[in-house]
Amino acid sequence: MTTTTIVREFEADLVVTDSHVVADDVVALTLATPDGSALPPWTPGAHVDLVLGDDLVRQYSLCSSPGDRSAWRLGILRTPDSRGGSKAVHSDLHNGATVRVRGPRNHFPLVAAGRYLFIAGGIGITPMLPMIAEADAAGADWHLLYGGRTRASMAFVDELAPYGDRITLVPQDESGMLDLDATLREPREGTLVYACGPTGLLDAVEQRCATWPSGSLHLERFTAKEAAVQSAGNTEFEVMLQRSGLTLTVPSDKSVFEVCKAAGVSVVGSCLEGVCGTCETEVVDGDVDHRDSILNDEEREANEYMMICVSRCRSARLTLDL
Ligand code: FES
Repeated sequence: MTTTTIVREFEADLVVTDSHVVADDVVALTLATPDGSALPPWTPGAHVDLVLGDDLVRQYSLCSSPGDRSAWRLGILRTPDSRGGSKAVHSDLHNGATVRVRGPRNHFPLVAAGRYLFIAGGIGITPMLPMIAEADAAGADWHLLYGGRTRASMAFVDELAPYGDRITLVPQDESGMLDLDATLREPREGTLVYACGPTGLLDAVEQRCATWPSGSLHLERFTAKEAAVQSAGNTEFEVMLQRSGLTLTVPSDKSVFEVCKAAGVSVVGSCLEGVCGTCETEVVDGDVDHRDSILNDEEREANEYMMICVSRCRSARLTLDL
């Protein structure tokens, strides 16, 4: 079973000490504290929040080395994002600019194993870089399958070159799509699959790993799964907040997060669509209807934590450690 590590306490304005283009529409940002003090520790797979404006918070994976506490590096793709998060990064965060940063947070930790298969689509390569470095340093057997639209759109290819034939680059315009059928057809005992990229790729990987041993597949999604945003069939339930001593009603058209916030309870959220993990809350009792895109099957079954921005309750009452 994977472990989920959350470190929430760090929040600061960091300085952009370097910003440069590393592939078509991809900029690499290096961030440091204004006084040069050490940044908090993190582990491969972690992401941070960039606070880019009022109600405009975006999550980006750290893709530098956890051993370097002097700076953090992010790789950010300019996307046709409805609220303009990545556009703001590309247009405003030049050398010397400051940006509010929260985290790091890790819902995609690298579990120790002898063999790994890493699958990255486009900017999904970012969390893989420190994971690969760690797996390689630990002497694990590993391979990376890295697909992108074109070679020029694929970031950090130069950094991967020293790994030689452990890397398979698949620019779509030259070689077509990643051959997931060939790669994942045979379940392999003892091999962990880590995948990050667009929803279509992750859904395809998930589908093909259905016959793999439980716990083999680890995914990080950038956008919410369908179930997170579905509201049809929602029912009303009561939420009892154990530490606050409050009992609140969650109507079918409101989330637990919204109801708690409206009642003045201190809750923190960021993406509000079950992707970032900021609102993770301990469950004391109740049959949780998990709608997030973070927890794996074992974590859902354990019923110990829930993302209160999207997940609901199947029983009449939910009790939370809030
Ligand atoms: Fe991001 Fe709930 S606020 S998962």
